[in-house]
Amino acid sequence: MIPKINTKNDLTRIEIEVKNCLKCILSKTRTNAVPGEGPNSANLMFIGEAPGFYEDQESRPFVGKAGQLLNKLLAEYDIQRSSVYITNIVPWRPPNNRTPSENEILIFLPYVEKHISIINPDIIILLGNVAAKAILKNNEGITKIHGNWFNYKNPYLKKIINIICIFHPSFLLRSPSQKKHAWDDLKKVEKKINEL
Ligand code: URA
Repeated sequence: MIPKINTKNDLTRIEIEVKNCLKCILSKTRTNAVPGEGPNSANLMFIGEAPGFYEDQESRPFVGKAGQLLNKLLAEYDIQRSSVYITNIVPWRPPNNRTPSENEILIFLPYVEKHISIINPDIIILLGNVAAKAILKNNEGITKIHGNWFNYKNPYLKKIINIICIFHPSFLLRSPSQKKHAWDDLKKVEKKINEL
């Protein structure tokens, strides 16, 4: 893999912008913003839906039960959580963990796109339907598209990024029989990493 040039300042700036965004009604109900975490040199970027209760409390993504499952998935493939960048489509918790609205997603999409361009990863793993629809802008459900590779063109980057969608860890907690799909899909990620 070709080493990347990264600007830590840009990452700090986007994190501050996300924290201070007042365009969204969720600013009234969230406790903390959850801009994302991980090294700005990460080659793997995970994008989930929106923070839940524990993430909102700790201002960190995927620290609750879904996060614990994500950690297990990563450990299975010897991927250090500290080496990947993790963020969400919407950085603020929706009340009662409801699905973010179309409008909330649209408000934060430009931040997510900027965020992706700053991290500039080789591979993005979209966790669940909300992330898949927001980034790929297609209407196919996750059941149909998980495990397939997509070429993603970020508006700020020249290069094409490899994207794969996997089932969201929260869905897997509710439907454990589907876990094998996430394991198979991450195997494809492992293969792709070795090819890059
Ligand atoms: N679910 C998400 O989509 N993101 C988190 O950060 C936690 C749970």
